[in-house]
Amino acid sequence: MVNVLILGANGQLARNTTRWFLQKTDARLTLFLRRASRLGNPDPERVRIVEGDVLDVATLEKAMPGHDVVYANLAGPMKQQAERIIEAMHATGLKRLIFVSSMGIYGEVPGERYRSVLDPYRDSAAAIEAADLDYTILRPGWFTSDDEVAYQLTQKGQPFKGHDVSLNSLSELIVKLALTPGWESRRSLGVSRG
Ligand SMILES: NC(=O)c1ccc[n+]([C@@H]2O[C@H](COP(=O)([O-])OP(=O)(O)OC[C@H]3O[C@@H](n4cnc5c(N)ncnc54)[C@H](OP(=O)(O)O)[C@@H]3O)[C@@H](O)[C@H]2O)c1
Repeated sequence: MVNVLILGANGQLARNTTRWFLQKTDARLTLFLRRASRLGNPDPERVRIVEGDVLDVATLEKAMPGHDVVYANLAGPMKQQAERIIEAMHATGLKRLIFVSSMGIYGEVPGERYRSVLDPYRDSAAAIEAADLDYTILRPGWFTSDDEVAYQLTQKGQPFKGHDVSLNSLSELIVKLALTPGWESRRSLGVSRG
């Protein structure tokens, strides 16, 4: 049974993936978020809720021990967030990180230039790629609520295919990554419906 720490647990994709973990696996989850009173506990036997800010490394280090996987679903100053996560993972000996970024950070989407809006995504990915971690960075297309699981992956260096991807597809992929040690380790994956 895998223990997963979800950072930014009130995010749209994180909430969908929490539901996916609970429905499809026996994983135990720690939901880490700011202002934790916003979130009800969906399954008190398997889920713990921790209030915290990812930029506060002491709180992160306290939350990390006992987990096999860290799944970061963040927004905002992502370079600083990634640096704190790397620091806390090194301090607590955790290795496996699934980090949600965005399509476009390497200029890999044909015909699109996202420029500075993606700087935090680009910089956080660079920090993670330079760290001694068992990471998988996800670069999804636009999220949809379509009730389907259909996705394809592209590797760093390949052109991104398609535009969008369903939340359920991303949740399916994140759960598979969390449950499959070594799969797509030290990779940065484009994810789209294709
Ligand atoms: N929507 C799309 O189509 C799309 C496409 C590609 C990539 N993405 C990216 O994918 C990521 C996940 O998407 P999403 O829709 O799930 O995003 P979201 O709903 O905006 O969730 C991001 C979460 O990060 C949390 N957060 C930010 N700073 C934090 C901190 N210092 N400590 C703790 N939590 C913090 C926020 O918490 P609060 O609730 O406390 O603010 C929020 O719940 C985002 O970076 C998004 O830009 C989105």
